[in-house]
Amino acid sequence: MSRKPIIAGNWKMNLLQDEGRELFEGIKSLVSGLSESQLPEIVVAPTFTTIGVVSAAKASWGSDKIKIAGQNCHWESSGAYTGEISVEMLKDAGCDYVIIGHSERRQYFSETDEMINKKAKAILAGGLLPIICCGETLEQREAGVTDEHIASQIRAALKGLTNEEIAKSVIAYEPIWAIGTGKTCDSVEANRVIAMIRRVVKEVSSEEAGNAIRILYGGSVKPSTIEEQLSQSDIDGGLIGGASLKADSFNEIITNSMKVAV
Ligand code: 13P
Repeated sequence: MSRKPIIAGNWKMNLLQDEGRELFEGIKSLVSGLSESQLPEIVVAPTFTTIGVVSAAKASWGSDKIKIAGQNCHWESSGAYTGEISVEMLKDAGCDYVIIGHSERRQYFSETDEMINKKAKAILAGGLLPIICCGETLEQREAGVTDEHIASQIRAALKGLTNEEIAKSVIAYEPIWAIGTGKTCDSVEANRVIAMIRRVVKEVSSEEAGNAIRILYGGSVKPSTIEEQLSQSDIDGGLIGGASLKADSFNEIITNSMKVAV
């Protein structure tokens, strides 16, 4: 079955408002001339303070060819949670997706599988879609526990979700040792892990949901790697950090992704 590929840019803690708007305009200048059926689904995840200008630029453009994601959220809808942001706030600001469970949040902000599961439920209940990240450290890979670690992250994140909710969610496999290091995971190996993730998804939901869910690869994706990655049976797109911060490289990733028949 064919799954529409996703090319998503995670801007992390980068870009001021003007820079974010400029980047958005740069991506828009490529995609405005292309039809939706040719394009992958394109997502950008600005910082919270930059979502507004990107969203305003999108509204004045009047096209839905670029979707917007938050980089995190809280699972409660409102209240005394200083520094946090709710799903409703992200929706109100123009987001379609929310990235959750990124390894940087797990590592630096002590996010647990249980918190990520609560966030996934809140996102889906609030009408947005989660991009659920998972990935192993270099130590885990060297110790040979990659698959069991990832499987347990996925089982925990999807706990209690309906098959329908799982089918429309997105997972991003991001080996931690490949993030920001320039060391892209070998495509065949990334595909092996992603196929394993899909089997786990099928186990906890249904064959249909497992076939429908889109699973991305992230970790030093570059314009030169995306074609080979997308040519694999189970890799449905990329979650891109560094190379998403410049319109030139992000646009090249989009253009190269379109060379792959899906
Ligand atoms: P890089 O593309 O910079 O390795 O970052 C990947 C990532 O963490 C995306 O979420």
